[in-house]
Amino acid sequence: MQWNFQDIQEQARAETQTLDNLQALEAYRLKYLGKKGLVAAIFASLGSAPPDQKAAIGKGANDLRAIVEGLIDERSATIGAAKTVEERLDVSLPGTGESLGHVHILTQTMQEIIDVFEQMGFVTVDTPEIETEFHNFTGLNIPIDHPSRDAFDTFYLDAEDASARGRRLLLRSHTSPGQVRIMKQHQPPLAVIVPGRVYRPDAVDASHSFMFHQIEGLLVDEKVQFSELKGLLSEFCRRFFGPQVIMRFRPHFFPFTEPSAEVDINAEILGIQRKKWLEILGCGMVNPKVFEAVGYPKGKYKGFAFGMGVERMAMLKYGINDIRLFYENDVRFLKQF
Ligand code: PHE
Repeated sequence: MQWNFQDIQEQARAETQTLDNLQALEAYRLKYLGKKGLVAAIFASLGSAPPDQKAAIGKGANDLRAIVEGLIDERSATIGAAKTVEERLDVSLPGTGESLGHVHILTQTMQEIIDVFEQMGFVTVDTPEIETEFHNFTGLNIPIDHPSRDAFDTFYLDAEDASARGRRLLLRSHTSPGQVRIMKQHQPPLAVIVPGRVYRPDAVDASHSFMFHQIEGLLVDEKVQFSELKGLLSEFCRRFFGPQVIMRFRPHFFPFTEPSAEVDINAEILGIQRKKWLEILGCGMVNPKVFEAVGYPKGKYKGFAFGMGVERMAMLKYGINDIRLFYENDVRFLKQF
């Protein structure tokens, strides 16, 4: 079959003059570009074409397709513009409603935790994520040679700390520097919580992330006892996880509390099999050295502090087994909460 591409193109151009409505335009499109249209027919003829003409025929078909597409675009723009608003707008079509998002499961969990402590009289305070060594370590009685100060365990910034020569700023490795900041600025009685992001250069796996969330708690007054800390955290866990929760206080060490403990939650009871006990927080009585560092009069105050991991709390409460799910933003995961 011989194709006269010049004639075909001219005809395709001429025909568009009479297209003044969408149905005619669609018929035109089918005539040229449809499955049984001219372009398809030209391609179909390639099989039986003499070898030395195949290239020219293929090119002719491709050019024709491009030209017709261009003509259709031009024509549909003029047809659309000529129509009245009433003709273009079909109010009976179903709408394309906005899909509503919702609060991320981690933000929800933080808010649930904050709610419980606020109901108990605690006040929520925000403190910076970029910290000084003084607030993150020194003021918390963490000695200069403590391993957590190592660059393997803390993200240091290039920026120098303007308040301490030769000292660099860092990304806080826990929310405890909030304790130091608040006590430097306020006198007891104090009952505050400090929620927020913390950073540690950990390799990412199912239970570690270089960034996660903590909620710090601090209560200072003239008479405060460990039994009150225990009572408060037990009540908190019952309100957060439900009355069936089983927890245990395990002796531990933190430089900024003395005595110190870690709290584990029995994961089996909550229906999570991976491990029987899961650690959720560190706590203890504020070490007098911390009171000294913030300038409180010696021996006048007592207090307790705790710091809990928000991701851990959410994993236990909602049966999530991989911390990475929180940050991947896969809507199939997020939609479930
Ligand atoms: N800052 C500690 C941590 O990140 C937790 C903690 C806070 C322990 C307050 C005792 C008191 O592991």
